[in-house]
Amino acid sequence: MDPLVLGIESTCDETGVALVRGRDLLGESVASSMDEHARFGGIVPEVASRAHLEEMLPTLDAALASAGVSLADVDAIAVASGPGLVGSLTVGVAAAKALAVALGRPLYGVNHVVGHIAVDELIHGPFPDRFLALVVSGGHSSLLMVEDIAASVVELGQTLDDAAGEAFDKVGRLLGLPYPGGPHVDRLARGGNPEAIAFPRGLSTPKDLVRHPYDFSFSGLKTAVARYVEACEDGGRDVPREDVAASFAAAVADVLMTKTIRACRELGIQTLVIGGGFSANSQLRELAASRCAEEGIDVRIPPIRYCTDNGAMIAALGSAALRAGLPRSDLGFGVDSALPLDRAVA
Ligand code: KG4
Ligand code: ZN
Repeated sequence: MDPLVLGIESTCDETGVALVRGRDLLGESVASSMDEHARFGGIVPEVASRAHLEEMLPTLDAALASAGVSLADVDAIAVASGPGLVGSLTVGVAAAKALAVALGRPLYGVNHVVGHIAVDELIHGPFPDRFLALVVSGGHSSLLMVEDIAASVVELGQTLDDAAGEAFDKVGRLLGLPYPGGPHVDRLARGGNPEAIAFPRGLSTPKDLVRHPYDFSFSGLKTAVARYVEACEDGGRDVPREDVAASFAAAVADVLMTKTIRACRELGIQTLVIGGGFSANSQLRELAASRCAEEGIDVRIPPIRYCTDNGAMIAALGSAALRAGLPRSDLGFGVDSALPLDRAVA
């Protein structure tokens, strides 16, 4: 029988704990402190750390109960050791180290952003030998070439400025929507015309495509949206919020998918996995489905509840690390707010 892996996630505002055996999710629990941050218009790190401290053991108990197992059954522990907020990460890593020592079980510090891709194995089954991963979250927009999710990940490109989720959150603020703006902009965009306003596609000129074939840039687009909104307000016109949201969302999805499909073609890749909080975005999901169908690419995107931060993705990556035969992390490992994506295990 495959080992039972306990996964702990505490990189930002979600406290997540899950139990995975092989590629099967046995049980999980997630608590979020987002309600406590919303009124500040952004995550307050100290508030998030304190919430993790309060939620960690109740979430652990709830996850064990939902899986119908006890701590004594756990064979290995995985914890997100980065990227993320240092204080938040520290709470999860300290809890995981304490459990590893108390239970005498190996501990794996794993990369939370890579986990956003790893979780898809729990949903759609084993990965092929070679695939591309587009990981899009509040902090990352990266294109990865993956041969083994735990042992061989190469970053082909990334955003040079804002991440896709970050750009959505900023446009949400411009349109007067609550924090985090991403899901609100998504909802507003569904009622608008995506072709109403011709917003720019960053790093897409022929020259850019030579220098930055697989990199992204969203800050110029965000500025274009800000200028458009300002021009409406200065001219005393109502801002067509739905059309702005729809045209903006279409520009983000278009750039992400155009570059990703290009990479699949150039590298001869048949399978694309999309993950991360921003992969909950409906405009991206729709465009990915239609463009990949046209190209004959198999696209895998986890259901929305496994796109945002959760413990299952950390347990899934821990399980993949065990399968790949990687050594356990030395118990002296720290947290790394900028852990590189080619390091799946600390
Ligand atoms: O991966 P995640 O949960 O946290 C990070 O690790 O960053 O991603 C959160 C990001 C936020 O920027 C949030 O606004 C965005 O994902 N997001 C969305 C949607 N759902 C979450 N953005 C656009 N449309 C959505 N439906
Ligand atoms: Zn995340």
